[in-house]
Formats: sequence, C-alpha cells, structure tokens
Amino acid sequence: MTADLALAVAGLSVELGGTRILRDVTLDVASGSTVALIGRNGAGKTTTLRAIMGLVARQDGTIRFHGAAVDGLATHQRARLGIGYVPEDRRMISALSVESNVLLPADACKLAAGERGARLERVYALLPELTKMRERSAGSLSGGQQKMVALGRALMIGSRLLLLDEPFQGLSPALSRNYAETLAGLRERDSELAILVAEANPALLRPLAGIWYAIERGAVTRQDAGAPAPAPVHSG
Ligand SMILES: Nc1ncnc2c1ncn2[C@@H]1O[C@H](COP(=O)(O)OP(=O)(O)O)[C@@H](O)[C@H]1O
Ligand SMILES: [Mg+2]
Repeated sequence: MTADLALAVAGLSVELGGTRILRDVTLDVASGSTVALIGRNGAGKTTTLRAIMGLVARQDGTIRFHGAAVDGLATHQRARLGIGYVPEDRRMISALSVESNVLLPADACKLAAGERGARLERVYALLPELTKMRERSAGSLSGGQQKMVALGRALMIGSRLLLLDEPFQGLSPALSRNYAETLAGLRERDSELAILVAEANPALLRPLAGIWYAIERGAVTRQDAGAPAPAPVHSG
C-alpha cells in the first residue's frame, strides 16, 4: 500500500440518540480511486459520510485526510481542505441559476474573486455538461440535471475528495448510465481525485469502483480484492 491515502477512517463509532449507529468502522480511500460503500436502507451509509464531514460527532475512532487527523475540525474547515459532500437530497435553490447554485459553497467559504473564478472554470472543465446550462434556473432542470449541478457544487470546494450519498437514487436507468459516464469522465480528467460513493444497489458502480466495502447494521467489511462485487440489496 504505497498509494497516497486521501481518506483513512479507523475504528469509527457513532451514537445517535443513545443508540450505537456505527461500530468500529475502518475504511480507506486512496487518491485517484473510487471506493464503493454498499448497504441497504438504515445500514449506516449516510451516518458514515456525515461523520467524515463532521456533521455528526464520533464516540471513538480517527478520521485522517491525507495523513492529518481532522477529528477536531468543524465541517467548514474539513470542506476547505478539499472534501466535497453531495447529500442524498440535492438542496438546489430553484430560483437561482445553475452557476449561482454551483457558487454557493465558494460564497459560504468567502473565497477571493480570483480563486472563485478559477475554481468555477475547473468545475466546468471537469463537468462540461454543466456549461450548457449555466444560465438556467435550477428549478427548470430535470432531477438528473440537478444531480449534475449538485456534483459541480461539491467539486467547487471538494477538489480532493468527493463523498456521494446514493447519487443514482431516483434516476431512470438511462439517466443513471449518463451519471455513471459523468463520474467516469471526471475520473479521467482528474487522476488525483478520490471518490467515496454510498449506494444500496451496486450494479451501476461495478465499472467505476475498484474497492468495495459492505456496511450492515453499522459495521463495515472490506470485500476481497478480485471477488465479485456484492449482490444487490433491496431497500425497505
Ligand atoms: N439522528 C438520528 N437519531 C437516531 N437514529 C438515527 C439518526 N439518524 C439516523 N439514525 C439511524 O441510524 C441508522 C443508520 O441510518 P443511515 O446512516 O441514515 O443509514 P443509510 O444511509 O444506510 O440508510 C438507522 O437505523 C437510522 O434510523
Ligand atoms: Mg442514507
């Protein structure tokens, strides 16, 4: 294991409302890799991503980003290190243009104008599909297009690690393939970017993810290298 680890989660435990939700979660995401976290509804996928972002407190364990522990950092400080998070819910501001929605995190982080512009151009270079819709209001877009905007918005700050929470959920098979192609294109254009994708159904991640983890009742197990991807799980 010589690859630079973008993310190293070790022994992470989280309790919510007095219930243990995550148990001793350990997982790694190398720079330039796409890693899948697969589990059914309620398994703990969202809680894992939220804990990495610092949106829920941990009881135990360590989260390292490029070797440095981020446990003591607030969410916005983790974001500023280059960690982008796309929650399950897209949270677009309908009345604003696509570009304004993409710029929201830059404004929240009070980036200087030059930096803001440079990052915006980088997002358009990484996701050329967004360029065509930059002036449109977010509310006029389809669900699939809004997912693209949410990805662009996360890339505005998350230039080194992307956390995607069930990005394929709610997309038709055609739009899912389109989104998977977008992720593959992103992968080609930025060879250093690390991506952690949580999904219930692994089918669409099969061509994308190199490393697989299964999560069940808050416990994560790494799937053997070379083994077939885990079978689909059904939510509900
Ligand atoms: N704020 C909370 N308080 C108490 N329990 C919660 C809270 N959020 C999530 N849970 C519970 O944690 C478990 C894992 O949830 P979650 O991480 O959302 O799973 P997934 O994203 O895999 O569907 C579920 O049993 C859920 O009910
Ligand atoms: Mg979830």
